[in-house]
Amino acid sequence: MQTKVFRITDPSLAGAELQEAADILRAGGLVVFPTETVYGLGGNGLSHEAAEKIYAAKGRPSDNPLIIHIHDPAEADKYAVTDQLYNRLAAAFMPGPLTVILPKRDCIPYATTGGLDTVAVRCPDHPIAHALLKACRLPIAAPSANLSGKPSPTCAEHVISDLSGRVDIIIDGGESDIGLESTIVKIDRDETGEYLTLLRPGAITADALACVCERVVIAPAVLEQLKEGERPLSPGMMYRHYAPTIPLVLLDGTPKDILAFLKSEQETKPCAILCYDEEATELQHKNLFTVGAREDLATQAHTLFAHLREADKTDARIIYAHLPPRDGLGLALYNRLIRAAAHTIKKI
Ligand code: TXA
Ligand code: MG
Repeated sequence: MQTKVFRITDPSLAGAELQEAADILRAGGLVVFPTETVYGLGGNGLSHEAAEKIYAAKGRPSDNPLIIHIHDPAEADKYAVTDQLYNRLAAAFMPGPLTVILPKRDCIPYATTGGLDTVAVRCPDHPIAHALLKACRLPIAAPSANLSGKPSPTCAEHVISDLSGRVDIIIDGGESDIGLESTIVKIDRDETGEYLTLLRPGAITADALACVCERVVIAPAVLEQLKEGERPLSPGMMYRHYAPTIPLVLLDGTPKDILAFLKSEQETKPCAILCYDEEATELQHKNLFTVGAREDLATQAHTLFAHLREADKTDARIIYAHLPPRDGLGLALYNRLIRAAAHTIKKI
């Protein structure tokens, strides 16, 4: 398949390209589009065949459900059974990097939801995503636009290297702002009332969610490795993700001890290092990737996936990165990094 690439900086000046992309979606084709989190691999969310095509293009198991993207949070009710808590979440965080799992309506095919009776709904905050959703007048089913097992793409170059020849159109809208996938929550109820289960941490933090719903429960798969045969609440948590082919090891210790360790490792073996800006002048330049200042978690999130891709292309035998803190945006970084590292943490 010949893949067209449209570079769009201002959607108001790209009516023809966006209409062409919308027509492709309506005709059952695949369009990669930018969002504020990562790039999405989009198809018609109401079509069984489009879902199958998405799974095939990504090389993804078809029991791992897709997120439905909508252009207005109120539209969710057409595709899912919404409730008051959904409305409160929508008012607080949408459009934005939040995905909510709700009971699905019949119009959403089981192919889209990986056979589940629930559907994931998200209203992205990106002018190109918004313009595309408006133009196609469909909900767009879109997983992250990477080949299964690769880090999610945060710029068009990543998408082109993974999916060129596998999709009809790639819309290049520059770098994704946030750089980590959306926060996913499920609305649950028990005898004491409603609560949110956090299935995937992202830029909407657990603390922010707690301002809308008092009880936020972090699903075990967010922090821990699942035991053999255990099924997570979110099927995607089961699969090894974001895994570089060079082993990644996370370092836990004091700043001083970690720096001393990294210096000595650079002397003895070819290693790639994701270091804080503050450490850069102390370390050798080769295969060194500066992730942002120690306290600047937003920059670390923005650069993480690009750095993992770059580090994996080096001649290093091992990649080192810092173990992030588990609070605020740190929880999202922690969740992605422990999975990329297959839970390998070295105490220094
Ligand atoms: O930021 C994002 O969410 C990006 C952009 C493109 O919107 N999309 C994204 O999609 O990250 P994907 O498919 O790579 O990750 C979606 C995750 C998967 O782990 C999947 O298992 C989970 O959402 N998921 C989808 N539907 C679900 C459902 N009904 N119940 C539980 N988990 C669900
Ligand atoms: Mg993904």
